[in-house]
Amino acid sequence: MDIRYRFPAGFWWGSATSATQIEGAAREGGKGKNIWDYWYEIEPNRFFDNVGPETASDFYHLYKEDIRLMKEIGHNSFRFSISWSRLVPGGRGKVNPEAVNFYNHVINELLKNGIEPFVTLYHFDMPLELQEEGGWESREVVEAYKNYAAQCFRLFGDRVKMWFTFNEPIVPVEGGYLYDFHYPNVVDFRRAAQVAFHTMLAHAKAVEAFREAGIRGGKIGIILNLTPSYPRSRHPADMKAARIADLFFNRSFLDPAVLGEYPEELVRLLQEYGQLPAFRKEDLEWIKNYKIDILGVNYYQPRRVKAKDHLPNPYSPFMPEWFFDYYEMPGRKMNPYRGWEIYEKGIYDIMVNLKENYGNIECYVSENGMGVQDEERFIRDGMIHDDYRIEFIKGHLIWLHKAIREGCNVKGYHLWTFMDNWSWTNAYKNRYGLVSVDLRTKKRTPKKSAWWFKSLAENNGF
Ligand code: BG6
Repeated sequence: MDIRYRFPAGFWWGSATSATQIEGAAREGGKGKNIWDYWYEIEPNRFFDNVGPETASDFYHLYKEDIRLMKEIGHNSFRFSISWSRLVPGGRGKVNPEAVNFYNHVINELLKNGIEPFVTLYHFDMPLELQEEGGWESREVVEAYKNYAAQCFRLFGDRVKMWFTFNEPIVPVEGGYLYDFHYPNVVDFRRAAQVAFHTMLAHAKAVEAFREAGIRGGKIGIILNLTPSYPRSRHPADMKAARIADLFFNRSFLDPAVLGEYPEELVRLLQEYGQLPAFRKEDLEWIKNYKIDILGVNYYQPRRVKAKDHLPNPYSPFMPEWFFDYYEMPGRKMNPYRGWEIYEKGIYDIMVNLKENYGNIECYVSENGMGVQDEERFIRDGMIHDDYRIEFIKGHLIWLHKAIREGCNVKGYHLWTFMDNWSWTNAYKNRYGLVSVDLRTKKRTPKKSAWWFKSLAENNGF
């Protein structure tokens, strides 16, 4: 076969998932409650079609069959997360032996099938008891997370080498404390900034625990949803708007994680508006001393911004949007089935920025994918013909390939996601899987993209 875009030898090809979104068995195996189980109990109507996470895609029971299918469709790596409330019900104290058993089985099964486990420690799923203590606003929760991380390294570090502390840490900040799409539905910038800072501190402490654990051949990182901020024009006011959006949504985590320091301009701005979170001097030392080895990059869509048309009302609550407005670029390409912009070159711009400004840190695409509503409409002969997804992946891989050719240090690509899964308040609205899941029977059926992905992985290119 003629391969036009060949990737470097040893490239990781796989897919990404998270515990709450695939496991199900929310009340089985000794699992404690997390904020999603609880929020669904008290406000089921906040979830699409009133569907909660209690059964999800039932990976808890079907993991063997799923891993067999991963192998069949060419995976040499698989990203999943450990559920904190399953491993340590209540968030601190003794580990739950049934959970240890489950994750051991998953890890062993993956390795037996030649699939490298990439493990995330926290994917939006705070144990309920710790949320009741204040969640990430509380320093005690930071310590509880460090202990949980240390337990994971001790239990699974003999086999798991690729570790990630957090998935998209900005999302619980935005969802839970700014824009009301995650529990606890607070809207308050100061508290959001505190949550963001403590998450970063928890991250640094987990990196410390990882260094102490001395996992041979192990690497640790964080997964960030980097959304390049593009200005409407080269006009200085638009450029400034884009720079500030970048500070709030990308550099607030990227800089401390990779460089060990917060961007000065962000600190100055928060100080000027009285929005700096509380911190101790030694916290900054921690962040400086415990930097990452690897970075996971999630990329779905860019952020397009312009200078504000009107000055913000100084009596309105402080928000990042005081400094920019969103901008719908005319002619931009949209995903007609989900409503997000598709801009493939964004993935290249991210990687070039990492090469030029972040020491060309080793990185992975840890999520990229295309969500589609009512995907059943594309079924023919019992299979979903998702040619749009194949085109989506190809479009991004062409730009990723160019970045690698130009020296960017990219080592793998994980599609979001392996099989259709439950997605927070959107539940099963948008389907992203290579494999479809019948929500009633849980039967798995590979889509056309799954077979295309197999040839991609097996040829190390397309
Ligand atoms: C990513 C998250 O940002 O977006 C995933 O890491 C999530 O957990 C995915 O499922 C897709 O989101 P949605 O809302 O389109 O289902």
